[in-house]
Amino acid sequence: MNNQRVLMTAVGSYLPANVVTNEVLSSFVDTDDAWIRRRTGIAQRHLVAEGETTADLACNAAAKALANAGLTGDDIDIIIIATTTPDNTFPSTATKLQHMIEAKDAIAFDIQAVCAGFVYALDIADAMLQSGRGRRALVVGAESFSKLLDWEDRTTCVLFGDGAGAVVLELADDAGDWGICSSVLHSDGAYRDILYVDGGPSSNVSVGHVRMEGKEVFRHAVEKLASVMDEALSAANMQARDIDWLVPHQANVRIIDAMQKKMDLPSDRVVRTVEQHANTSAASIPLALSAAVDDGRIKNGDVLAMEAIGGGLVWGAALVKFGRPS
Ligand code: COA
Repeated sequence: MNNQRVLMTAVGSYLPANVVTNEVLSSFVDTDDAWIRRRTGIAQRHLVAEGETTADLACNAAAKALANAGLTGDDIDIIIIATTTPDNTFPSTATKLQHMIEAKDAIAFDIQAVCAGFVYALDIADAMLQSGRGRRALVVGAESFSKLLDWEDRTTCVLFGDGAGAVVLELADDAGDWGICSSVLHSDGAYRDILYVDGGPSSNVSVGHVRMEGKEVFRHAVEKLASVMDEALSAANMQARDIDWLVPHQANVRIIDAMQKKMDLPSDRVVRTVEQHANTSAASIPLALSAAVDDGRIKNGDVLAMEAIGGGLVWGAALVKFGRPS
């Protein structure tokens, strides 16, 4: 029986060289290392250098993912970048990346679902490949999120960082149970005021800064992520014990720990990078995935559970049997 599915065959990531620890941050923001660690689990973040853009981060991550897949830009049919911090309002950062990696025949576009951007982009690419729009896609989460921060607002500026991660998706015949097993997305604009940026081209012709009601976001995060993960498990006919690795959005270690408990997973089956990366929005899941593949924890054939929530509110979860059948 022909069982066509979309495989996740390779991953790559990139972090800007500049590391800002909580101690350094405390020299210009009214905060301290102990508060940030206790409330969030964050110890440091990487920040883009002057002149370094989201497209540069995306290009570095994409080049590594392509090399790991043994492919070049020529092999790619679809490029999707999930980002809230594009280089320009238009054209899309994805078209810039297309040019940089010489993916001449690809279609390229950005999507905007803030911190849930990677799971949204994964779902879109899966649907496009399944419907015959190409054989291979590059899905990238890339952010220069520091550009949206108000460095006078200690309740938000300590939480975020910059970076990029990319995965290669390939349509495969007779894939068995490999590849993207399920993905579920949700949005609820009733909560658009609890996490947003107070700027934009059509509202006040400015870029704006992140504004957040942290406690409210925290409450929704745990409840909605647990519920969407149940939906994704049920859609894939799986149970939490079938998961090898939880690769969650890296916003706050307390949210990650709450998900681990709700799913009843051992702590060492959860990838945590929030301590080193902080919250890199759409880049956080592919960055975490890349870290755990690179250090050998995640292996070919492991079943991954990914989940994320972001401003909108938007949230989603995806289950993937990683790699390709050997
Ligand atoms: N350094 C030191 N003190 C700080 C601080 C900082 N960076 N930020 C806030 N505080 C202070 C507050 O002023 C407040 O002081 P007060 O009690 O004297 O008024 C105190 O710490 C508690 O603030 P509060 O906002 O109630 O803390 P919290 O326990 O809710 O933790 C967050 C704040 C942001 C860490 C937490 O709400 C959170 O993680 N929310 C989810 C955020 C998130 O994940 N967003 C992204 C989703 S994609």
